[in-house]
Amino acid sequence: MTKGADDGKSVTNMKALVYHGAGKLALEDRPRPKLAKPTDAIVRITTTSICGTDLHIKKGDVPAVTDGRILGHEGVGIVEETGAEVAGFHKGDKVLISLITSCGRCAFCRKGMYSHCMAGGWQLGNTIDGTQAEYVRIPFADTGLYQLPPGVDEEAAVMLSCNLPTGLECGALSGRVKPGDVVGIVGAGPVGLAALLTAQLYSPAEIIMIDLDDNRLKAASSFGATKTVNSSDGKAAERIMELTQKAGVDVAIEAVGIAATFDICQAIIAPGGHIANVGVHGKPVELHLEKLWSTNITLTTRLVDGGTTPMLLKMVQSGRLDAKKLVSHRFNLAEILKAYDTFANAAKNHALKVVVKNTGPGGGEKPEL
Ligand SMILES: NC(=O)c1ccc[n+]([C@@H]2O[C@H](COP(=O)([O-])OP(=O)(O)OC[C@H]3O[C@@H](n4cnc5c(N)ncnc54)[C@H](O)[C@@H]3O)[C@@H](O)[C@H]2O)c1
Ligand SMILES: [Zn+2]
Ligand SMILES: [Zn+2]
Repeated sequence: MTKGADDGKSVTNMKALVYHGAGKLALEDRPRPKLAKPTDAIVRITTTSICGTDLHIKKGDVPAVTDGRILGHEGVGIVEETGAEVAGFHKGDKVLISLITSCGRCAFCRKGMYSHCMAGGWQLGNTIDGTQAEYVRIPFADTGLYQLPPGVDEEAAVMLSCNLPTGLECGALSGRVKPGDVVGIVGAGPVGLAALLTAQLYSPAEIIMIDLDDNRLKAASSFGATKTVNSSDGKAAERIMELTQKAGVDVAIEAVGIAATFDICQAIIAPGGHIANVGVHGKPVELHLEKLWSTNITLTTRLVDGGTTPMLLKMVQSGRLDAKKLVSHRFNLAEILKAYDTFANAAKNHALKVVVKNTGPGGGEKPEL
């Protein structure tokens, strides 16, 4: 955090990762956010991370994100300031930030569809400035923040801002994984791996992970995948049909966000099965109703709501869920462009999830790099 030199009195700047159109990201000085509404809080970020969705944004796949937006929807930090109507949080509280902003009162919030909140939704790093900065403004702080329970590691917690609730809600729950199922997960990035970790809570018989990256497939095996398939030869669907004695999978989870991987899901789904789309798609896909019309399948799409976050926090706190093992790389905020590069080229760098620490003036503790 640095005092702005331009007016000599009131502008307080911070470092932030800013989007400037497809392919263009820059680490810049930006004014530190201020409270805008009495329900807001300002949080000083201590740990943030990069999501596959940020890579889609960088590609230009998410048109809602416009030039000048500070990216990031994952973070842990310390409450710096609260608006007059914030009841549950105070300066100094260590908090987990949910990617979803929700008023808690509108018709969609009352249905538990917080990501469709009429006054919020997925806004952070999308339609409002996000967490890849020294400070962030959190609207509806009472519902957008969670107190970090004692003993919960920051890096484990930051996996709960987005990835673990996404894997669980959009993957395992939408796909209705049940005991004895054969599950195929296409994409072994942090979100696919989170689907793998949370699908196991429902006792499937088999989980087959599909990716192009052998390092991520190796991680998947150590996280509980029973089989892995490298799809770089374009024959993943045939291989999975062989592995399932031509039956296909009961649940196919798409965790990439491109047509090729959605096609794999359509090709491997068993009669009566569920295709749970998780990936953010920037382009249309072809829906093969000429094959699927008679096979009793269910196709779901979902934006994560974060309603499972309190439950996941308890599981992390009790040691039932080891979220920290998703983290492979650590960077300082000053090196965030390198962190993007490492995550975008995950196979080359043997990367799973990369976390970014704010160790600047006023920032968190020094990371073990
Ligand atoms: N629905 C939601 O609410 C929600 C929330 C968060 C993330 N997401 C989306 O989930 C997806 C995964 O996120 P992530 O952070 O794990 O991303 P990531 O980019 O780290 O992982 C994507 C993985 O897909 C693999 N892949 C790419 N092309 C492939 C192919 N042809 N066949 C097989 N594998 C292939 C890559 O090797 C990589 O391991 C992204 O689309 C992200 O935007 C959705
Ligand atoms: Zn995310
Ligand atoms: Zn609402």
